[in-house]
Amino acid sequence: MITTPKTTIDVSPEAPTTLKADWLVVGICADGALTGPAAAIDAATAGLLTRLRESGDITGKHLELVPVLSPTGLAATRLLVVGLGKPEAATRATIHDAAAAAARHITGKQVGTIAFVVPSPEHTLAAGVGLAQGCQGPGVRKTAPTRFAPERLLLLGGDAAALPRVLAEAQGLWLARELVNAPPCDLYPETFAVAAAESGRISGFDVEIWDESRLAAERMGSLLGVAQGSHRPARLALLRYNGNPGGPTLGLVGKGVTFDSGGLSLKPTDGMVDMKCDMAGAAAVLGGVQAIAAQKLKVNVLGILALVENMPSGNAVKLGDVLTARNGKTIEVLNTDAEGRLILADALCYASEQTGFLVNFATLTGACLVALGTETSGLMTNNDAWGEQILGAIRTAGERAWKLPMDASYDGLIKSKVADMRNTGGGRWGGAIAGGKFLEQFVGEAKWVHMDIAGPAWADSDTAALDAGGTGCMVRSIVEMALAFSM
Ligand code: BES
Ligand code: MN
Ligand code: ZN
Repeated sequence: MITTPKTTIDVSPEAPTTLKADWLVVGICADGALTGPAAAIDAATAGLLTRLRESGDITGKHLELVPVLSPTGLAATRLLVVGLGKPEAATRATIHDAAAAAARHITGKQVGTIAFVVPSPEHTLAAGVGLAQGCQGPGVRKTAPTRFAPERLLLLGGDAAALPRVLAEAQGLWLARELVNAPPCDLYPETFAVAAAESGRISGFDVEIWDESRLAAERMGSLLGVAQGSHRPARLALLRYNGNPGGPTLGLVGKGVTFDSGGLSLKPTDGMVDMKCDMAGAAAVLGGVQAIAAQKLKVNVLGILALVENMPSGNAVKLGDVLTARNGKTIEVLNTDAEGRLILADALCYASEQTGFLVNFATLTGACLVALGTETSGLMTNNDAWGEQILGAIRTAGERAWKLPMDASYDGLIKSKVADMRNTGGGRWGGAIAGGKFLEQFVGEAKWVHMDIAGPAWADSDTAALDAGGTGCMVRSIVEMALAFSM
């Protein structure tokens, strides 16, 4: 049901001019002389790149794409020149996007081999994962598909030592995106749990699944309160990877609402239409843990996927109901559409009993989109040093987050007259922070970061580097977090 590209990825020391491929992709900077492989390609093609630069057809502007069909002097059938932008502005993110844009340009048709000239060996990871990103799109359920995974990606001049990480991150990204793109008729808590078990079996980590009776026995009343409106029973998936026996454990918790109708606080159609994406946090955790295990990183990770469907029905949780979470705290439900925090409450509670280092990922609030837009996640924490460490990992990975305040002046947002807290802020203001303040009640003494990924998890329309749909956001950051944690 969850199918990801079968594309193989390799590095190769072969010269770009003599390599046989359906497409040879080379990056060109916005200024400066042609150097290295670009100069070799220029020489082999009797100055083709120089001429195209002089005529203004190639500027090297970031993400510019100039295809050259049947280039003479090269063994490759086609050449694609992709702009890398100013050399001083070249980062992991800009190389990743350039490679992704090139792959997107090519993979609208079926091809065999795409060879990418890695600008320099330290960019192998960015180039490889970027290419992989551009080979996958949401159209796999069309009778006439719109994107075709190639047979082979070759990283020319790439660093062979980086290859295991490239493969692991590419596959983690593919898995996370495909999970988000999968329709809710196929992907619901039970099938998501099966996908997690399958991933664990292949990539080498343990997966334990708790069903509804176990969840009740574990006193997860807040999570079960959300699930009770749906015919689809809840699941909790526990992913355990121990690469550093005896060492500390990084706890990663994901919101996995496989469909968020809003429950009795029903969303209007416009707000509900993309709500199959509401499990993107859980998808990021699964993709990230898979990528960590596949590389055999020397780190311990506990991943927790909180999996429910949020539906209205005769059994659904009602406004005014009071739920009791695992830690005994009582919650007044004033809006059944604020369900993510209800399921995370119990999952965080359990996680905080297992480890003192937590990060959760959740498409939690529309308010975070209003505050930060579609490209930047909100970061909230109860420990500034831990928050900085996580933010640093996200930046290194080339992803974006911005810290929101969590001081005591926001405590009133979750005060309830009848229970220990209420699940909404009441008014419209500070909605993203209200979510953070609520979750904070369930992490005990653990150092904790809450990532609100409601914006970056889903792309409404295509961009140069990415097809619309699930983005796979935070998979690369989670690998980087694990690396920082292991040091
Ligand atoms: N899943 C939504 C948040 C969301 C909105 C994710 C848009 C991605 C894009 C969440 O469960 C939700 O409905 N939040 C409410 C909270 C409110 C009722 C306090 C919201 O944002 O309106
Ligand atoms: Mn909701
Ligand atoms: Zn939701």
